[in-house]
Amino acid sequence: MDPTTFILFGATGDLAKRKIYPALYELFLQEKLPHSFSLIGLGRTELTDEVFQHNVEQSIHSFARSQADDAALKRFLQVFRYNVLNIGNVEDYVQLLKRVEKREEELGLTPNRLFYLSVGPEFFEPIAENIQASGLGSANGWKRLVIEKPFGHDLPSARQLNEKLSSAFREDEIYRIDHYLGKPMVQRLESLHQTNPVLQALWNNHHIANVQITANETVGVETRAGYYDHVGAIRDMFQNHMLQLLMMTAIQLPHNSGADRVRAKKKKVIEALVPVQKHEVGLSIIRGQYTEGAIQGKPVPDYRSEPGIAPESMNDTFIAARLQIDDYFWRGVPFYIRTGKRLKEKSTRIVIEFKEPLKQTGTEQGDIAPNLLIVEMSPDERITLQLNTPDPQGNGKLKPIHIDLHPKDGVLPEAYESLICDAMQGNPTFFAHWDEVEMSWAWVQPVLEAFADNQVPLYMYPAGSYGPAEADALLAQDGYHWWFDEKETDTPASAEAPKEVVLEH
Ligand code: BG6
Repeated sequence: MDPTTFILFGATGDLAKRKIYPALYELFLQEKLPHSFSLIGLGRTELTDEVFQHNVEQSIHSFARSQADDAALKRFLQVFRYNVLNIGNVEDYVQLLKRVEKREEELGLTPNRLFYLSVGPEFFEPIAENIQASGLGSANGWKRLVIEKPFGHDLPSARQLNEKLSSAFREDEIYRIDHYLGKPMVQRLESLHQTNPVLQALWNNHHIANVQITANETVGVETRAGYYDHVGAIRDMFQNHMLQLLMMTAIQLPHNSGADRVRAKKKKVIEALVPVQKHEVGLSIIRGQYTEGAIQGKPVPDYRSEPGIAPESMNDTFIAARLQIDDYFWRGVPFYIRTGKRLKEKSTRIVIEFKEPLKQTGTEQGDIAPNLLIVEMSPDERITLQLNTPDPQGNGKLKPIHIDLHPKDGVLPEAYESLICDAMQGNPTFFAHWDEVEMSWAWVQPVLEAFADNQVPLYMYPAGSYGPAEADALLAQDGYHWWFDEKETDTPASAEAPKEVVLEH
């Protein structure tokens, strides 16, 4: 890896403490940090280098996956330095440049600089501008900008932000984190697909009946009312994470596809997404909001009574949608997406339901569950294939079994570990390209407008349920149901725990 100076804006913030330092520490333990590496943390508070290092140490003790090893931790912390910085003051950046150059000289580092913006999106523009104006971004080495969602609030604001960032950084220098792309099972799905011709052969509308992408959460709005009540599930989860999962599921990738190919193919998918018209949003999109209920037996209040939420709020805490991709591979295959807060369980998964040709020809005998490919990110991380086998009890019935395509081989990395490592290596495969972001906003824009004008009903659902019944009806209209919801009417696959089969390597 190239020698790198990691310049972290928001070094005293929550994301840095909970995710970035622990991820860097894991990379350090796995010897995945560059040999020549220096980190300069920036924040508004005056701190000495020693206090900063102590704070980082605390965050490793509280949040790292691996137990802190004193000697290793000491070596790790040596590279951490701190600078106070007022984001809007270009003079501070000039001072910062001097410090960065001094460190580069001391350590003999080529001036490769990674700017990580762990700050609110309102600061992205002034930071990018001042990096450019101060000369921090004009050294001989490479420069990269790492930012996290939200990338805008709607299509026009996203475009405006991108224009500003583009005046200081080229597209290939911008790494937009969508932490769902860092999830190990999403990355595994991509390679599973690329390396298995049998899956490639099945990856189309001849064999696939529908695709279901679920991200259910049990948490409510928590302490983020100020942000969430203006954003809702549509901007917080759907426009970014959920559409990214859709692209990652629908891409057709030949073996050995590099970052360029992956991104080009994702763009093709999002380009082919059939747009929704504002006046028709209610036909394919269900928005919901939670009322009071119970999560795992504990009573919880309704959304409108949460601290900081407007008592009349029409904000969406749940979205379910039916989307269509109008291309050669996917025409006619519905993609169902749902995500929401205060639902029955935390479950994040993609289910690919295969067609049942015998059922379609009317020659099928008895009740047979469809084959499914299940990419589960939460609560477990695994990829399984559901097949049918004769019930060993010899009663002439069939039983679904699950074949584990991803036997556990050690602890999986956290999304931030892989993403930070990729950004330092200059590998953009699992970052969101501007084209994807822009087209996702473009798709969502009529939905935002229909919601703002209250042209779509807001369905209430009790906390602790699977969302409004209308989200079930969306699939029922097409003859399907959400897989693995624990309901009494469920099909054999989820009513009875399927037998687990692990393939030996
Ligand atoms: C974040 C959203 O991007 O993703 C949160 O802002 C949400 O509201 C979180 O809770 C979910 O991430 P995960 O990895 O827990 O599914």
